[in-house]
Amino acid sequence: MAEVFVVGSINQDFVLKVERRPEPGETVTDAVLSTHHGGKGSNQAAAAARLGAAVIMLGRVGEDEFGEPQFVNLRDQGVDTSLIERLEGWKTGSAFITVTPDGENVITVAPGANRGLSDEDIEAAADAIAEAEILVAQMEVSPETVAKAIEVAARVGTRVLVNLAPPFEVGRAFLAKLDPLVVNEHEAAFLLGEKVKGVEGALSAAPRLLELGPRSAVVTLGAEGAVFAEGDSSGHLPAPLAKVVDTTGAGDAFVGALAVRLAQGAPLEEAVAYAARAGAAAVTREGAQGSLPTHAEIEAM
Ligand code: RIB
Repeated sequence: MAEVFVVGSINQDFVLKVERRPEPGETVTDAVLSTHHGGKGSNQAAAAARLGAAVIMLGRVGEDEFGEPQFVNLRDQGVDTSLIERLEGWKTGSAFITVTPDGENVITVAPGANRGLSDEDIEAAADAIAEAEILVAQMEVSPETVAKAIEVAARVGTRVLVNLAPPFEVGRAFLAKLDPLVVNEHEAAFLLGEKVKGVEGALSAAPRLLELGPRSAVVTLGAEGAVFAEGDSSGHLPAPLAKVVDTTGAGDAFVGALAVRLAQGAPLEEAVAYAARAGAAAVTREGAQGSLPTHAEIEAM
């Protein structure tokens, strides 16, 4: 029985390490290409499994050369792939990621088969959702499918964590089922319609995110850790100092770790502190899944 049920994207990541990003109309050469297994859903599932949780993932890949290796990878990571299927006529989701020497990344995603996951697929997985302690979703499958997943989770009494990445307009009924809503500064700004920057900005934003409906909210701040809000309490949990190599997937390491600690019954504040350390550990290595930390590595941070 899985403790963590992840519904989300599975991507083939193409990562370009380059001195600087091209300006519009410009060509920049001397980049170094590497390929990795990715997708926010897959990364978060792998992150939770790396920490010892029993994880099952619901997702879709295409019938191209990138689909089959995703199964092998997720199984190797310890994720139950019995709810993942290949979709005829679709391409596997792909992400084109540019990483500059400061470790920062920009990502363009072609969702492909991730958008082929349907409401019927969610309904068919209702028993597995009911068995899990927590359902984890992001926004790289269609928003309607995420809405269906959280509706099913609410019906069967399973806690829901949604990482609203990339951000979409979602209604109060959607947000009201989340415990927690997890966003970064950009996503928080999108929801609130105003700039959110740094610890002070997040401390002011988090309680206002609660006013939009979620039972709890977490704003991730990269190197500065994260801020949480729940009921009348809120606070900032710093991240330990880390040498930044590649920030890709750090948010997914954070969400995977947060989900595991919540599934184990930890209070939100304690789970966020643990997740902030997981995120910091993840920036010290390249790639999204190649950088996911173990529990021992998080403890050593
Ligand atoms: O969060 C990082 C992920 O975003 C990458 O693995 C890429 O696939 C995109 O989905």
